[in-house]
Amino acid sequence: MKYPSSSVTNLEKKDLRHFMNINQFSKKELLDWIELMEILKEARSKNAVPHLFKGQSLGMIFQQSSTRTRVSFETAATLLGGHALFLSPRDIHLGSKETVEDTSRVLSRMCDVIMIRTDLYEKIDKFAEYSTVPIINAMSTDVYGDDTGNHPTQCLADLLTMKEHLTNGEKIEDATLVVLGDASTPTVSLAYACSKLGMTLKVVSPEGYNLPDHVIKAAEENNKVSGGKLIMTDDVEEVIGADFIMSEEWCWGRDEEEVNKRDSIFKPNYVVTKELLEKAGPNTYFMHVLPANAGNGYWTDEKEVTREVMEGPRCIVFDEAENRLSAMLALLVYYGRPHYTEPKKEDLIKYEKETLNKLKEIF
Ligand code: CP
Repeated sequence: MKYPSSSVTNLEKKDLRHFMNINQFSKKELLDWIELMEILKEARSKNAVPHLFKGQSLGMIFQQSSTRTRVSFETAATLLGGHALFLSPRDIHLGSKETVEDTSRVLSRMCDVIMIRTDLYEKIDKFAEYSTVPIINAMSTDVYGDDTGNHPTQCLADLLTMKEHLTNGEKIEDATLVVLGDASTPTVSLAYACSKLGMTLKVVSPEGYNLPDHVIKAAEENNKVSGGKLIMTDDVEEVIGADFIMSEEWCWGRDEEEVNKRDSIFKPNYVVTKELLEKAGPNTYFMHVLPANAGNGYWTDEKEVTREVMEGPRCIVFDEAENRLSAMLALLVYYGRPHYTEPKKEDLIKYEKETLNKLKEIF
């Protein structure tokens, strides 16, 4: 075939890099990610985001719903001068009439970067195996299945948010993060990030709701190098001294019977309240990847966090949500730009002339 790909990146398979899992990065690389986000966040604040995704296309495959991930990726592509395509299960054949392998080969002939949110990490892995452009894991949700679910794009935003809210010149490496409640996909990514950076991560959960074994093993290996700490306990007193407390939904994707069971396990000990934050320390902030169940949504009761905390001065969840945009800007330049081929001026003139001449002949 004369032209191996219609994508402007025209990557050779051997040069391909994907964004699959935070554990693929070193400490230095994670600190570089934070700096890249900071540069692009500042650029956005001055309405000066460089057009470094110009002429490029982001394919966005969502097999589950999303507010933050979708809007931040789509907005980032636009701000960077590119384009994003929203591809829900209603829009494409993936998973029904077309295989992962075929969809991957087709989309990577047309898009320059592809992000995927789906149930199984192995589907993203398979997509990457067949893709000729970078693949971004926009969350795989199977933490309760084969335990490989993770949420690395969220994790970048979480790291930036923590860095921005540290006081007294504290470095992110020195920070203590407590995840209270259910250790779901965002906690998996944070376990990798904290252990690579040398942070202290405490996962305070009822028995049976902590991190999967393979994640614990990886984090412990990382901590041997970084000096970080991973503490897993069901003792809520461990929140004392935390710089940040994060909670997660325990009811997401569950039927009513399971939610009732979980409510009885998690409540009241694993609910972030104003009193719990005060107990943790005078400067402890509350984080949540959102959506939160604080008595406002599908479930009318307050679950992992109270409305009082959500509306209070220690709540930084909306800064965290906004930082999804900083993360997506960084991801698109990191994965889209290095392989971008600038069009030659003479080529642009030549093909415009040839096309217009042909149109004259036709009409
Ligand atoms: N935190 C997060 O991933 O949000 P969405 O599900 O809205 O994308």
